[in-house]
Amino acid sequence: MFEVRERDGLGRIGVMETRHGRVTTPALLPVVNPNRPIIPPADLVNRFHAEILMTNAYILGRGPHRESVLRQGLHEFLGFSGAIMTDSGAFQSHVYGDVDVTNAEVIEFEKRIGADLGTMLDVFSEPSHDRTQAAADVEETIRRAKEADSLRGEMALVGAVQGGLHPDLRERCAREVSTLGVSVCAIGGVVPLLESYRFQDLARVVIASKKGLDPAKPVHLFGAGHPLVFPLAALLGCDLFDSASYAKYARDGRMLFPDGTRRASELRESGCPCPVCTDHAMKEIAQDEALIAEHNLHTCFAAVREVRRAIAHGDLWELVERRARAHPTLLVALRELRHHNEFLEEFEPVARRGALYYVGPETAHRPVLHRFRRRLMERYQPPSAKGLVVLPENRRPFTEAYASAVARVMETSDVHAIVKSIWGPVPLELDHVWPMAQSVVPDSLDVESLEAAEVFFREWAAGAGYPFGLLWEGESSLDELRARAPGKRAVDWNAARIRATADHQFGRGAADALLLGTVSYVVSKNTGKVRNVMVDGDHVLSLRAEDGLFTLKAAGAQRLHRAFHPPQLRIIVDADAVPFVREGKNVFAKFVREADPEVRPRDEMLVVSPDDELCAVAQSSMNRREMLSFKRGVAAYVREGVPPSTPAPPH
Ligand code: GUN
Ligand code: ZN
Repeated sequence: MFEVRERDGLGRIGVMETRHGRVTTPALLPVVNPNRPIIPPADLVNRFHAEILMTNAYILGRGPHRESVLRQGLHEFLGFSGAIMTDSGAFQSHVYGDVDVTNAEVIEFEKRIGADLGTMLDVFSEPSHDRTQAAADVEETIRRAKEADSLRGEMALVGAVQGGLHPDLRERCAREVSTLGVSVCAIGGVVPLLESYRFQDLARVVIASKKGLDPAKPVHLFGAGHPLVFPLAALLGCDLFDSASYAKYARDGRMLFPDGTRRASELRESGCPCPVCTDHAMKEIAQDEALIAEHNLHTCFAAVREVRRAIAHGDLWELVERRARAHPTLLVALRELRHHNEFLEEFEPVARRGALYYVGPETAHRPVLHRFRRRLMERYQPPSAKGLVVLPENRRPFTEAYASAVARVMETSDVHAIVKSIWGPVPLELDHVWPMAQSVVPDSLDVESLEAAEVFFREWAAGAGYPFGLLWEGESSLDELRARAPGKRAVDWNAARIRATADHQFGRGAADALLLGTVSYVVSKNTGKVRNVMVDGDHVLSLRAEDGLFTLKAAGAQRLHRAFHPPQLRIIVDADAVPFVREGKNVFAKFVREADPEVRPRDEMLVVSPDDELCAVAQSSMNRREMLSFKRGVAAYVREGVPPSTPAPPH
């Protein structure tokens, strides 16, 4: 039903199958008001290329068109052959206080008119609802979701997540509803937040819901129709948006833009490249509700396409950070995200193509950088020395910028060298690891970033245990270093880099396991950098130039397999899958039994049988939560199959 093709943050480009065709996500569902269709559904297809739209079963069921839609079916009635999702009237209950239908009646009607995705009648949980009331909303919503599941027949069901602003209730509702036979999980009760620009609360609600939701199911965000929120909502894992805003704002003479809303009558030019704004004078647009609606819809579709571009390119975080400047409350929402890094980090790939760009002081708090700092504390073993020379942020890679300074320092002082970068401390041996060498950072930094760098540095230094740290201020620092840490240090930088990278990537102890024996390197003639690592003649690791991380070879995997216990570093597959994986076939998610909770997308992993026999080396494309949930798609791309080991001959 849903398969993921690309990912970034919790965002994904996916394909959702319906009875009326495939829908590429993130997708925008324009809302068609059956009583007032400002843009005809045929135009939504031909001019806007909509693959799916949304209409309201509650309104249809009690309006003048009831009989014709029942007779013709929804698709013929609307003149739309793509996928159609119907909503249930829960929003009307929020607006009017109550609705005069039952959950069972709505489901029955949606089935009869042929909705591709029919929404249950959930209880709209207002942000103002206290715990007791929100808990009651959730219990009733779960009860109705179960009822809807039992009544849905062949219809794909949309299950709703309620719970107001209470994270634990959201998570519980999400978990209960998404384990039922629902095809789409929809986060509801957020329109009041969207209307009053309460994006921080929105972010909290979406994150809490995502924690409980089945990652294999597409997630809809009810009522999110402003392009301002698409990047953030997609980053947090929302796949579908419905927009009535394009029509509602048009009725009010207001134009939507990716960075906000403007009144058409107050503009001399819109500055927008859409066909409406290209072909019509602003005066004409301002007087024509349909033209404004079309412009609004162009803006919304373009904003969703931009999100998809960013996911495919791997710079959705950058897009969100840039777009957050469009509204102060969006910036507050962005700053909220750092408090959820433990969860968000699970979904971040270990590396990606291309550079990480500084956008603002929020960038340092991205989950990937949080991960780097945490691994530094948990996995990095600082070498013994009499002190630290602390090198300021500089041109990257730092080893090149500081090559001669460090050589001079170590001739006369026994100190270890570490860079106090704005992403946190970076030991010189780890400066090639993504994104430390692959970051674009301004020459002159803002105070907030500098203060954060200071805090990150102190947190690490407190645990590292060096007697002193001296900030490098150029030549003048040489004397003081010599006085405080007399001696010298001879560092084999290749060896130090290999060891530190191995522990950073695979966990503390990995370097000892991988490198026990006689180590030699194959060095690139072009770059002078280590390419392959051989131990006792076996090729155990290759070092990738792009991201400074290792590709694991079978001989290396065997060493890690002996040193780390299950499920560490492992993907455990069903016995049925073992022969295929050994032959080099990819690991499909449906065959994964268990996996290391620490596995991240693009990690190098050991694929093992239920009896913990090593079967392959693979690069994961999912985290554990995803591997255990998805029934479709590849969980890990096998690099090398490992044949069954022949039992040792008797002595
Ligand atoms: N439309 C906007 N918000 C909601 C909601 O919470 N539930 C449903 N079913 N539809 C909505
Ligand atoms: Zn326009």
